[in-house]
Amino acid sequence: MDVLDLIKRRRSIPRFKSDPVPRDVIEKMLEAATWAPNHHLTQPWEFTVLDGAAKAEFAEIRRRFRVSLFPDPSRTEAQKAAEKIYQDTVATPTIIAVTMKVAEDPEVRDDDFAATFIAVQNMMLTAADLGVGTYMRTGGLVHDPRLREFLQVASNRRIAAIIYVGYPALVPERRRTPYQEKARWWTDGAVPQAAKPEPAAVQTSGIAIDPVCKMEVDIATAEYSSEYGGVTYHFCAPGCKTAFDADPARYAELNRNE
Ligand SMILES: Cc1cc2nc3c(=O)[nH]c(=O)nc-3n(C[C@H](O)[C@H](O)[C@H](O)COP(=O)(O)O)c2cc1C
Repeated sequence: MDVLDLIKRRRSIPRFKSDPVPRDVIEKMLEAATWAPNHHLTQPWEFTVLDGAAKAEFAEIRRRFRVSLFPDPSRTEAQKAAEKIYQDTVATPTIIAVTMKVAEDPEVRDDDFAATFIAVQNMMLTAADLGVGTYMRTGGLVHDPRLREFLQVASNRRIAAIIYVGYPALVPERRRTPYQEKARWWTDGAVPQAAKPEPAAVQTSGIAIDPVCKMEVDIATAEYSSEYGGVTYHFCAPGCKTAFDADPARYAELNRNE
């Protein structure tokens, strides 16, 4: 399939058929992940594939996490929501937990985080290409200490995402804002000027203070003036104007701070 077509057709699949996903599909997804670009070849990712009893254990952790989100976990709706999430999880053919190294250097950490999610996208596209659906979730669950413990995540790593995998039972429709509304084209070497603030209305009457000698100047009859930084300065005499024009930045600055 054409890559753009594949990218556009991949959806987050909310419901899966019960058919199992063959191991070689999962292996292709993992292989695709490892070919993601990553800065300095840190390859920060690791994967845990869950099925069978391990998946049921994960489902139990997810159930407990879900119920903990309710202010009163003993209420019927909390128990119902938790049971639904447990059953949905057990019914999901395969679940892949993605972990990544948490580097001490914040720049490396950011790059590794980005690379890990590129790896996840590779996995999801590979699955989509093979007719298999995925749903990536982060949510609060990735920070649940019980999940960390279950997945035996080392102290210098974190859980980045959980990917739910199966054959689609439902493919939702999604929209995107067209790229035309998200992109600017700066071509032909011409960089457009940043929008400038509206120039202040020019004052044509009243009293201005000569920025050099600090005398009052009647704006309506002022004979000597200069423009600097979008502001008009008025002077009492040609000498002040000459002094100002020789070093306008200094006088403008003095004027601003007085
Ligand atoms: C980094 C990331 C985290 C996500 N986490 C969740 C999540 O916790 N729960 C969820 O329902 N969907 C999650 N999603 C899936 C998005 O909701 C989904 O991609 C979005 O609705 C667009 O739909 P599409 O993937 O079908 O285009 C996540 C997506 C990304 C990229």
